[in-house]
Amino acid sequence: MKTIEINKEKCIQCGMCIKDCLTCSLEFDNEKYPKFAAGGEERCFACQHCMAICPTGALSFGGKNPKDADKVKFPKPDDVLSLIKSRRSIRQYKDEEISPEVFDKLKNMFPYIPTGCNTNTLHFSIIESKSAMDIIREKVRKNLLKLISNKLFSPLGKKFEHYKTHFENGEDLIFRGAPHMIIVSSSIHAPCANVDPIIALSYIELYAQSLGLGTCWCGFAQACFKFMPEFAPMLDIPDGYKPVYVMLLGFPDVKYPRTTIPESFPVSEIREVEEINQTISQKARRLLLNFIR
Ligand SMILES: Cc1cc2nc3c(=O)[nH]c(=O)nc-3n(C[C@H](O)[C@H](O)[C@H](O)COP(=O)(O)O)c2cc1C
Repeated sequence: MKTIEINKEKCIQCGMCIKDCLTCSLEFDNEKYPKFAAGGEERCFACQHCMAICPTGALSFGGKNPKDADKVKFPKPDDVLSLIKSRRSIRQYKDEEISPEVFDKLKNMFPYIPTGCNTNTLHFSIIESKSAMDIIREKVRKNLLKLISNKLFSPLGKKFEHYKTHFENGEDLIFRGAPHMIIVSSSIHAPCANVDPIIALSYIELYAQSLGLGTCWCGFAQACFKFMPEFAPMLDIPDGYKPVYVMLLGFPDVKYPRTTIPESFPVSEIREVEEINQTISQKARRLLLNFIR
């Protein structure tokens, strides 16, 4: 519900709500209180910045009381950096399920995940029991074996051909014995459909690891769910949504006493810019690269 309500006793008419609005949806009324501008309600993303930024808590968005919002508090940078450095991809899990209380902690964080244009058109499929996970694990393994053995190789069969004997031996190379996983799907109409789920899982990964859980991005599972539409109803993926990425989850059965010492990424430190002429073919090539995959 896109509504704003102003407590005129509290409002100091500073205009911060108007200035901070991404979609220019707000303006002052005749008495210099904020109101929706013409067409503002339609443009509004419902991001609630107007409510969050108000220095006196005078603005209520969508009937929400600013008093119910948390006070802003940031952790120490060293703690954040330690979490980032200490996070590992976990491929060995305890044979133990995560409790509903811990799942609730994760789920309660989900609404704070940003999405492009604040569309919030994400769907989370959480496999919360080991028994459900085992059924998926086995079905994926058998499907992959069929695909690999098929003379007319599918792209997926080709991708996993190398692992055939592992699958035949019953090894769980895809899900690494994880008792749980989260599949994040996106509405195909979302403006940032391929990006939002990745952001969501990045938030989930860091928060989960701070809760003592192990996680692993699972490109293998992502490929399987992409090529095996029979899993969509099993994973409760809504119509019009596509599974974008998968993360394994569980209690780690390993401890890393130290971080890794990773190589640096190339960084261009740009302080001054100058226009560099490119030929048409150089530009065309760049354009093509920008749109590949
Ligand atoms: C997008 C993405 C997909 C990945 N897919 C898999 C996967 O299918 N299976 C797996 O065991 N690890 C997977 N990983 C984990 C990477 O191999 C891992 O991040 C990398 O080796 C560095 O290790 P670290 O995460 O512990 O720093 C994936 C990571 C990312 C970011």
